[in-house]
Amino acid sequence: MAFISENLAVNERGHLTIGGVDVMTLKEKYGTPLYVMDEDLIRQNLRTYRDALNTHYNGNGLCQFASKAFCTKYMCKIVAEEGLGLDVVSGGELYTALSAGFPAEKICFHGNNKTKEELTFAIGHDVGTIVVDHQYELTQIDAIAESMGKIQNVIFRVKPGIDAHTHDFIMTGQIDSKFGFALETGEALSAVGLVKDKKNLCYKGLHCHIGSQIFDVEPFRETAKVMMNFIKEIKEQFNLETEELDLGGGFGIRYVESDDPIPCDKYIEAVSLEVKEQAQKLSVAVPRILMEPGRSIVAPAGLTVYEVGCVKEIPGIRTYVSVDGGMADNPRYIMYGAEYTAVLANKADQNAEYTYTVAGKCCESGDVLIERAKLPEVAVGDTLCVLATGAYNYSMASNYNRIPRPAVVMVSNGADKLVVKRETYEDLIKNDL
Ligand code: LLP
Repeated sequence: MAFISENLAVNERGHLTIGGVDVMTLKEKYGTPLYVMDEDLIRQNLRTYRDALNTHYNGNGLCQFASKAFCTKYMCKIVAEEGLGLDVVSGGELYTALSAGFPAEKICFHGNNKTKEELTFAIGHDVGTIVVDHQYELTQIDAIAESMGKIQNVIFRVKPGIDAHTHDFIMTGQIDSKFGFALETGEALSAVGLVKDKKNLCYKGLHCHIGSQIFDVEPFRETAKVMMNFIKEIKEQFNLETEELDLGGGFGIRYVESDDPIPCDKYIEAVSLEVKEQAQKLSVAVPRILMEPGRSIVAPAGLTVYEVGCVKEIPGIRTYVSVDGGMADNPRYIMYGAEYTAVLANKADQNAEYTYTVAGKCCESGDVLIERAKLPEVAVGDTLCVLATGAYNYSMASNYNRIPRPAVVMVSNGADKLVVKRETYEDLIKNDL
């Protein structure tokens, strides 16, 4: 049986295991639907990034986990323990991180429309860096910092003009993006120039992010080149040193057999060669390199456990297998047409000879998890797992149809630990007046 992640196996009872723990045992203990995450794999992934950045930038790099992919207090603690930074995009993510005791100086605050309240909260709690997204924000951050008697480190989000989502990436499309300052129009250069007059801001550097679920090194390498050239331009124009260059996240992972991700250290090595080559060619110092991977750290470490409630054959068309979750806990098929792989945890040793459409329980025809899932013959009561759901599933879950969000369990070293409680019906009405 070919699984898409190396932390999954089949035990002597024919059950699926994750991180050495029998999924059927977890189902019995915590119920379904259930998010299960392999803590050991998350830590291993964090360390791979940390070590690769250290190796390829001579200790002058930092990986900041993009918490939008999976944000809970426990996850923030893991990231802190591994010595990495955190990228947050809202007051809520920032609050979660601070509540977990995450060191504020290692937090980078993003967003294309941070509110005044969010900025005040962030500056008041001494977040390490704020990523400036537009000119008005520059003035706002400066004014808030001044009112608190603080100097705030800022980096500028730049649209490098690279669209990594076309077949052959192109260098134009991204000007039409709500994020950041455009390079090709001169907008980014004039924005950086304004920082010199802001007494309560300290210019640290630049940020860019070209997309998500990318399998190709080239667009990343090209981006690094564009950004290094911009660093040179900033130095020439304003005599400003760019100490930090944040290259964002975006590495693809394997959701289905045909996905072919590049190991992150290979990518980091390739980009570092470009950065160093450009630094030499342009006579600028190699900046401290930051990265913000989200998906590639947590997605492969997670799976979602469901119980099959009904099997409905529509002769000559398809057979629906409906599970006790769906778009409320995983909206990625309905939003992006995302593909996934499923396994029956209680029949993990059987051949996947049948094709089913795995549907959810929401009142919505599009509530599908997998359109063509290969599975053994499915019966009511079977335990169906959707794999690689560790990123953008829990974090994007909703209460649509007033369905309580599932619990999250971490497994490590053969043991399990509840890290997010299952929501109750009472939780659903707690803010209703
Ligand atoms: N940094 C910035 C500025 C970002 O906008 C993102 C993702 C990341 C880092 C992390 O990217 P990653 O390494 O996870 O690809 N909900 C979508 C993904 C949206 C990604 C948005 N930004 C999904 O489920 O596929």
